[in-house]
Amino acid sequence: MADITTDVLIIGTGPAGSAAAALLSSYGIANMAVNRYRWLANTPRAHITNQRAMEVLRDLGREVEDEAYMFATHQDLMGENIFCESLAGEEIGRMKAWGNHPLSRAEHLMSSPTKMNDLPQTYMEPLLFKTACSRGTQARMSTEYLRHDQDEDGVTTTLRDRLTGQELTVRSKYLIGADGGKSLVAEHAGLPFEGKMGVGGSMNILFRADLSRYVAHRPSVLYWVMQPGADVGGIGMGLVRMVRPWNEWLIVWGYDINGPEPEVTPEFATGVARQLIGDPDLDIELLSANIWTVNNYYATRTANGRVFCMGDAIHRHPPSNGLGSNTSIQDAFNLAWKMAMVLKGQAGGRLLDSYDAERAPIAKQIVTRANQSIGETGPIFAALGMAEGVDPEQMQKNLQARTGGTPEAEAQREAIRKAIAFKKYEFDAHGVEMNQRYRSAAIVSDGQIEPDFQLDADLFYQPTTWPGARLPHVWLYRRDTGAEVSTLDLCGHGRFSLLTGLGGEGWVTAARDVAAEMGIDLVTHLVGPRQPYVDHSGDWARASEIRDSGCLLVRPDHHVCWRAPVLTDDPAADLRRVLHQVLAR
Ligand code: FDA
Repeated sequence: MADITTDVLIIGTGPAGSAAAALLSSYGIANMAVNRYRWLANTPRAHITNQRAMEVLRDLGREVEDEAYMFATHQDLMGENIFCESLAGEEIGRMKAWGNHPLSRAEHLMSSPTKMNDLPQTYMEPLLFKTACSRGTQARMSTEYLRHDQDEDGVTTTLRDRLTGQELTVRSKYLIGADGGKSLVAEHAGLPFEGKMGVGGSMNILFRADLSRYVAHRPSVLYWVMQPGADVGGIGMGLVRMVRPWNEWLIVWGYDINGPEPEVTPEFATGVARQLIGDPDLDIELLSANIWTVNNYYATRTANGRVFCMGDAIHRHPPSNGLGSNTSIQDAFNLAWKMAMVLKGQAGGRLLDSYDAERAPIAKQIVTRANQSIGETGPIFAALGMAEGVDPEQMQKNLQARTGGTPEAEAQREAIRKAIAFKKYEFDAHGVEMNQRYRSAAIVSDGQIEPDFQLDADLFYQPTTWPGARLPHVWLYRRDTGAEVSTLDLCGHGRFSLLTGLGGEGWVTAARDVAAEMGIDLVTHLVGPRQPYVDHSGDWARASEIRDSGCLLVRPDHHVCWRAPVLTDDPAADLRRVLHQVLAR
């Protein structure tokens, strides 16, 4: 007999585990989350929070989304990525990042009801964790995962209470391994991985110092410092990252992974901070310093039987592009509703297979993207004449050379400009963040071929209702109050949704009948003049890619799972067929 029973046991309370717990509790599923430490993240690792992750928070409730904005640094202050010799030294160039170019901002505004922001992990985790616990999650801190055994009916997991040293067992229907980049759960579940761990070495130096005089006139979250040695290990360049404007900072500085591990003493850490800031007498209040490794490693299978892994447990990569915590939260959004519906008897167990089919390709994509971004820093160093192997004295001369009036100097300036502009693939890659299209048994084709990307798929989000894609956001208007409502707000919250228009009343009746017959939650929305939601701007007519009498069937995670261009002869039969397939019944 196990000491404790629950439906889902979650190992880890990072962004992945806490998001999974919050979602499962919101869907009414009994769950327990454990963390081997006594509290949540103690350093502000993740911070760039993209629109897709914010949509998950919004789905958890407007109060959750609003609290995130309250603690976050606003998108406007995320500003321009600065490339410089040091904060006090000469600026080499800059680029508008994170949706701050006016064209990019317009795309952000058109793509989502949410805003990108900078929310350090030390704020994100407590928010998700609080949401989980207040909605029913049983949390157990200072509790370490040791091992698990699964059988046909469930998983028995052995934990150790680190306060008493005693072992305890938990019996659950499912186990979620959200235990980060050194995941024991993934290892014990035998998940296969590709790539390599430890491809570079890096250190984080967290400190307080008022740096307003160097930065307030050029707000940014990332100040890249091009100094000799800055391209060794780490994330490609020396980094001074804003944690709180403008008095809390995190320095990221690389070291050669093939050499001995550096000892980051307070003196060493203070020295690196002063060197990157360019102020030899600067007083800093050192908060912490630690080293970590750059990884290029992803699971090619994300689950085994009743054990599902998510977050860094299945994708391990450098922070470039700011994808880690965001993707972890999105993994949870993909899995939680599926688990909830299977546990409630509304879906067959095979629905859970779609988690791997849908998220394993994303794990590979983001690990590859983040590592590629490190390599794409090389051309900046090359253009500056600071490539590896050049001695520091020569580097200084090469840096100087760009200030000349010669054709060579002009060519160098051009090369620097181009190399910096190319970094938009790391710092303004809206497509990477938003273009996720799923292919799995939980998506039913409407017979249409996938629309090609008209623009660069890494840089630009391309909305489509092609089954598998995320439902496009447009603003509709409530007929009663006139208030704006996002199409995404009509969906989600653990339920399926059906959107149709005038002439599609047949879908509404059919959806109600089929939902009642199958015992599932399926909300319907009819959009049109004199209907509860009105498309005054015509944006929905353009974005929906169906006729008014057609329908879009949307999963709880906002992804379209089927669409019909017009009302069919037997809408109930069509919906029944599709929902049975999607829900593996
Ligand atoms: P995470 O590692 O956060 O959590 C793992 C959890 O499991 C912890 O609660 C841990 O205590 C627990 N655990 C582990 N082993 C256990 C055991 N045996 N028993 C019990 N509990 C156990 N991402 C992003 O989206 N935007 C960004 O801007 C950045 N920036 C960034 C900067 C820097 C410097 C770093 C190092 C990283 C980032 N990231 C990022 C990445 C981000 O921090 C990372 O992807 C997420 O924390 C991953 O979340 P997880 O919940 O998967 O793991």
